Amino acid sequence: MVPMPQLHVLILAAGKGTRMKSALPKVLHPLAGAPIIDYVLRTAAALSPASRTLVVGHGAAQVREALAGHEGLRFIVQEPQLGTAHAVTQAAPLFQGATGTLLLLYGDVPRLSVETVRALLAEHQRAGSAATVLTAVVADPSGYGRIVRDADGIARIVEHRDATEAERAIREINSGIYAFELGPLFPALARIAADNDQGEYYLTDLVGIHRSEGRRVGALAAERPDEILGINGRGELAAMAKRIWRERAEALMASGVTLEDPDTTYIDAGVTVGADTVIRPGVTLEGRTSIGAHCLIHSGVRLEDTTVGSHVVILDHCLISGAVIAEHAQVGPFARLRPGTEVCPAAHVGNFVELKKTRLGSGSKAMHLTYLGDATIGENVNVGAGTITCNYDGVRKNPTVIEDGAFIGSDTQLVAPVKVGKGAYVAAGSSITKDVPAGALGIARGRQENHEGWVERKKNKQAGA
Ligand code: UD1
Ligand code: CA
Repeated sequence: MVPMPQLHVLILAAGKGTRMKSALPKVLHPLAGAPIIDYVLRTAAALSPASRTLVVGHGAAQVREALAGHEGLRFIVQEPQLGTAHAVTQAAPLFQGATGTLLLLYGDVPRLSVETVRALLAEHQRAGSAATVLTAVVADPSGYGRIVRDADGIARIVEHRDATEAERAIREINSGIYAFELGPLFPALARIAADNDQGEYYLTDLVGIHRSEGRRVGALAAERPDEILGINGRGELAAMAKRIWRERAEALMASGVTLEDPDTTYIDAGVTVGADTVIRPGVTLEGRTSIGAHCLIHSGVRLEDTTVGSHVVILDHCLISGAVIAEHAQVGPFARLRPGTEVCPAAHVGNFVELKKTRLGSGSKAMHLTYLGDATIGENVNVGAGTITCNYDGVRKNPTVIEDGAFIGSDTQLVAPVKVGKGAYVAAGSSITKDVPAGALGIARGRQENHEGWVERKKNKQAGA
């Protein structure tokens, strides 16, 4: 193999994205669980280039802020945006005297694979070209720049709006993705004029300039033309998301997961699912979620950054975020588990139950209409219907501890900080404000009085009045 020279990546993302009709810059729109630009950055990172630079313009501040966490990513601002050649020219100061190859990507072309890019770079080197264009042969080329070939490679690229009828019949299109030799790039760019229909500096004119000065321009046709599709409007965004989700669904099914309806299962890239788990329709798995084997995830469940052990059942319509659910546990229907929740092995969380920063010990149950926040609950505890931890005193969050084997009667309020000892009972309807010792009964409610014959007396009084 020919050794790879210095590789630099430049990504264009300054355009307005007019057809999105959005206050959010196009490249930040979420696509199947991640901003569009993330896909491009991932492809770039996979090449381990010497540098990565993003050209921003419209919504520059927003884009920079959103991508601040990407270490080593450089930004340059293109203002105003005068076309694709103008955009690349803005990077000239960063590459003064540099040699090697510049790979140009678009921020709104998220499906381009690393393999295709590698093939482009390999062809670029093999042919020793000054520029190599990634092209695609498509059924409907309208809107794209057309590749005009000759005996020596590519003669020029002509934009759709500037093309003749004969040129419009060409089905090989310009993807807009290129490999450039850095040495001759910027001097050639400086010669590009904005003498076209749109009055923009077209990067595509570089082809003609290189050729007229005796440098070779090559091309590589992508094996999968789909990869070079860009996102212009919301329809394309939805269609691409659908494809990406479908691919992930296919991959999971191939690995032994049952998806009852892959078309309505939405799985982010970082999600893993064990074999023989069954996922019913309308399930969304987001972020760094992992699910074990032999689980059953019912309809309408959304899991975010959640770890689920094996043999877990999650019943319909649960919203679960930042939680850990251990093996053989059961959750739902209609449960909400918030960050910091741990449901231990074989524990049960029932309907209309909310847990936050709470550990529910092995075999423990909270089945109905309950809120447990900042609570540590031991093993085999029964939390009765309507139990509420009063964890917030208006200033700070306070902890509740319920030890192994305790029994919390229905409609109990546990005013934290408070502790219920091992095996203790709390009587139904209690407002517990003091610790309940191990083995004790805690009861804290008004005593019941029965007034015999009261109803009869009331009726007589009313009749007499
Ligand atoms: C461009 C190509 C066309 C190709 C098509 C593929 C040119 C002149 N035409 O056309 O041959 O078939 O891509 O999709 O290059 N951008 C900037 N700054 C600018 C202008 C654009 O950063 O001043 C960025 C955009 O954000 C976008 C990319 O460059 O990511 C392409 O711009 P766009 O206006 O969509 O180019 P096309 O007209 O589609
Ligand atoms: Ca475009």
